[in-house]
Amino acid sequence: MTITIAIDGPAAAGKGTISKAVAARFGYGHLDTGLLYRAVGARVLDGESPLEAAENLRPEDLTREDLRSADAARSASQVAALPDVRAALVDFQRAFARRQGGAVLDGRDIGTVICPEAEVKLFVTASDAVRADRRYREMAATGAEVTPEGVLADLRERDARDSARATAPLKPAEDAVVLDTSEMEIGEAVAQAVAVIEAAIASTQMRDDDPA
Ligand code: CDP
Ligand code: CDP
Repeated sequence: MTITIAIDGPAAAGKGTISKAVAARFGYGHLDTGLLYRAVGARVLDGESPLEAAENLRPEDLTREDLRSADAARSASQVAALPDVRAALVDFQRAFARRQGGAVLDGRDIGTVICPEAEVKLFVTASDAVRADRRYREMAATGAEVTPEGVLADLRERDARDSARATAPLKPAEDAVVLDTSEMEIGEAVAQAVAVIEAAIASTQMRDDDPA
């Protein structure tokens, strides 16, 4: 049985942290799909055209040190609104989702567009203020020159653009379980995600075992 877990949600909601913990817990692979868009965005900041960058993305682009910067995040959300850029990244994501042994993918459109058949769909969210505070602390800890107000404004701008675009907008899949982590420590958020996933895996196994 190959299980795919789709984890979507707005910026800095905790998708990556939960995805990594869940992947380690179940022994699945993890793909942070935001990195693909950040890498395309970074190459565009270097002067390339968005489609050329998306079609020629290389593994080493995903480990660039500048991908976590505010500029790369903004550029990612600009290129992510382009349908041909999104289309160029679909096959890679779907191939990863089907890998043997299970996969966790986190992003914006995993449950809605990339893996609509995923066995588990989570939509992780938190209030704007909580998300901005988390991202501010995270960026400040790396020495980035950021202010709480600047991080909040960037995050709101990106969420608005991601939600408003015509192709694969940020929104929960109809069958996603929404996890609001505003009041949760990481450990509790992971525990709740694990509970949802275990229940979904059990019901998938029951369905597969049912001779009818
Ligand atoms: O992947 P996404 O942008 O959704 O968020 P993340 O990178 O997993 O989390 C953003 C920051 O919030 C990280 O520094 C996490 O350690 C922190 N976090 C938290 O404090 N409490 C949570 N429940 C989840 C994440
Ligand atoms: O970590 P954070 O949530 O701040 O951002 P990210 O997941 O690294 O994604 C960066 C940007 O890429 C988002 O603001 C989206 O515009 C875009 N993205 C997307 O459109 N679809 C995805 N599946 C993942 C990211």
